[in-house]
Amino acid sequence: MIKRRLKKAGNEFSKKELRAMIDSQNLPRHIAVIMDGNGRWAKKRMLPRVAGHRIGLESAIKIVRVASNLGVQVLTLYAFSAENWRRPPEEVGELMKLLVEYLRRELLDMQKNNVRFQAIGRISGLPGWVQEEIRWSTDQTKDNTGLLLNVALNYGSRLEIIDAVKGIVSDAQDNKIDIDNLDEETFSDYLYTKDVPDPDMLIRTSGEMRISNFLLWQLAYSELFIVPTLWPDFREKELLQAVIEYQKRERRFGTIGKIAQSK
Ligand code: FPP
Repeated sequence: MIKRRLKKAGNEFSKKELRAMIDSQNLPRHIAVIMDGNGRWAKKRMLPRVAGHRIGLESAIKIVRVASNLGVQVLTLYAFSAENWRRPPEEVGELMKLLVEYLRRELLDMQKNNVRFQAIGRISGLPGWVQEEIRWSTDQTKDNTGLLLNVALNYGSRLEIIDAVKGIVSDAQDNKIDIDNLDEETFSDYLYTKDVPDPDMLIRTSGEMRISNFLLWQLAYSELFIVPTLWPDFREKELLQAVIEYQKRERRFGTIGKIAQSK
């Protein structure tokens, strides 16, 4: 009994217990994730960096399933940034292969679980064989109505904002929009995430306190969760714990909040 209590004090709840602690009425609609720490995970084990990405892919697969089962509407995973091209070519090649492997391996499962796949970023900058696979998975899953899985590829948030500005200027020149009436909602419609609610929570693994050019506009009011776990070790329990933490937070969106109001 004492042992059991000590165990609980260490937050060692089982998956089943964690699942039962989640309030299904207060789920985050959109979870965004910076999957960081694959390289460090591999280094700790004296393995090549790509081994970390490979196990990181297994975490991504698991997290998609858990988010989908929980009833989350959107999951955005930062898989390859516009800056990641600066990595060694072998690593970049391996990340591209892993993405294609992911899409081929998981398509059936996405269909079974009603998951809709979509890629965000400058997709035209990816190799043709990767673009083809992305197009195929996007098309095959386009009518699914469950979780929207957004994978950010060749993605940079500043580039996204520049692309939005270009779209707005072009539509203004064609008299499709009136610049004087440009508001936040209209601006959002020009982002890659158009039609998607802003993230309610951002999870970043491996403890780095940075946003790294990810969803700069969309994260304005998101709850941030920086966890020390390296991405390959981030699985169901870690996601459930983050969602439970999210449900304890009071979201204020710039107001004074419930606690201050009652004083
Ligand atoms: C960051 O770790 C991780 C990446 C740049 C790649 C993430 C990709 C995957 C998990 C696999 C593919 C996933 C999908 C959804 C297809 P890092 O290499 O920067 O780690 P470090 O900071 O410890 O070096």
